[in-house]
Amino acid sequence: MPSASVSRTAVVVAAASLFALTGCSADSGDDPFSGLVPAPARFELTDRGDFTLGERTRLVVSGDGAAAVAETFAAPLRAATGYDLPVEEAEPEASPDGDIELVIDPAVEGDEAYVLESGHGGVRIAAGEPAGLFWGTQSLRQMLPGAIEESGAGEPEGGWRVPAASIVDQPRFAYRASLVDVARHFSPVDYIEKHLDRMALMKLNVLHLHLTDDQGWRIRIDSWPELTGIGASTSVGGDGGGFYTKDDYRRIVDYAAERFITVVPEIDLPGHTNAALSAYPELNCDGVAPPPYEGIEVGFSSLCADPARAEVTDRFLADVLGEVAEMTPGPWIHVGGDEPLATRPDDYLDLTRRITAAAAATDKTVIAYHEMGASNELPPGTVGHYWDLTAAHEMPANRRDEPARPYPESAGQAHSFLEQGGRLVLAPADRTYLDMMYPDRPAGPLGTELGTRWADTITLEEAYAWRPEETVGGLDESDILGVVASVWTETLSNPPDFEFMVFPRIAAIAEVAWSPADARDEEDFRSRLPTLGAHLDGLGVAYRKVGGVDWAE
Ligand code: ACM
Repeated sequence: MPSASVSRTAVVVAAASLFALTGCSADSGDDPFSGLVPAPARFELTDRGDFTLGERTRLVVSGDGAAAVAETFAAPLRAATGYDLPVEEAEPEASPDGDIELVIDPAVEGDEAYVLESGHGGVRIAAGEPAGLFWGTQSLRQMLPGAIEESGAGEPEGGWRVPAASIVDQPRFAYRASLVDVARHFSPVDYIEKHLDRMALMKLNVLHLHLTDDQGWRIRIDSWPELTGIGASTSVGGDGGGFYTKDDYRRIVDYAAERFITVVPEIDLPGHTNAALSAYPELNCDGVAPPPYEGIEVGFSSLCADPARAEVTDRFLADVLGEVAEMTPGPWIHVGGDEPLATRPDDYLDLTRRITAAAAATDKTVIAYHEMGASNELPPGTVGHYWDLTAAHEMPANRRDEPARPYPESAGQAHSFLEQGGRLVLAPADRTYLDMMYPDRPAGPLGTELGTRWADTITLEEAYAWRPEETVGGLDESDILGVVASVWTETLSNPPDFEFMVFPRIAAIAEVAWSPADARDEEDFRSRLPTLGAHLDGLGVAYRKVGGVDWAE
């Protein structure tokens, strides 16, 4: 099949109308294909006839990195189908059991761009870079029946059919993150791997791990062993502790890297530090360790800015951030900075300067919550992470007495990062905080009421309608590095509860992150969700079957 090239202009082509035109009616057996989430920049069903993955199908690769992408893609397919699906450097053959070609082709421009052609004789995915090739395989994954996600599934009725389609695709934003709070409740490595696999399905490419907070310190630091020795023993509600050894963390990083996902580690400073302060009394201004904390209040802990504690505090910062950076291959390190309510403003500026300097000394690019924009001494290129409400947000009339938000200074603090040469990642709590309740406040799968609503409730439609460029005033598209879908785990202590809150709203944010802005259409999105749902079913995800979507039974 001919190769096509993706140009900048491709992303402005309306994808939604193409879906509407085709009606997404291809029948792939048990669960008819209803469309891709996130919507590609261009997608068309064609009349080339369906492709069927069969026992003679090979993954035919060419170019650096293509074989590794093919192996990552093939592993779950082999487990589901029982087929060999060998990865070979060979000439593809057109046949009913045709090959899947994965080709590195410099004609496809863009770090994450790909083109995909499927039809009776085979499938061809071409990309200039391995990352694009991988995202192409994730589109192909969604085009297969949802049973492809189940080990030992066996052939579904109608076979492993893939609709005939032409796709030209690349993302809107480079940074498409899922933030997971493993501090309030810990998640073991195996579960994080599952989450990474689900992220890949939706083309999310950054896992932000919120590794430390008042309730727990979750990453081993050799030079300060009591951070986990003492600080990891607790979580919210006394639900037990946990932490990642360095090998655990490397396992997460490697599993993520195979899926072109970058891990961003967050050490939240100078507030949200009760777990550290309880482990090391010398970090406290009064030299007395506070007791461990298992509640859900915020804003009561702080590192000490007192010059008498400067040596130990700066050594702590250099050691912790140095060890975390050393085991993190990605380019970013996140230093938190949010809700410094227990830190005097002058002390906060002083600590922000020292924290961000220690982080920059690791040669990573620093990311910090918007509050650190109060400083005009940020290291060059520091990325601001905005988490307050969208500028236009209005609380419902019956809740106007709740804290006035957004805080007036938040937008200015966000702009401060831009003024100092950085960019922004946007995570407004009223659109992207997936621990916010659904408005009908349903009980979770285990019968408990889940989530909080300090930033209001969030429907699937509200998450989907978010326009990142309008989050705070005066943003250009080029100011935005990306977006973050966050899940804070104060009320979420087990996978079914976590998944009920996260899915499917994370898919709405994934589409905001990936798809061309002018192609987004809520009706169309809803019409495509059943296919994603069939894959989530195959993966065993306890997602909420929100109303208005024709979920597969
Ligand atoms: C935050 O929600 N305090 C980052």
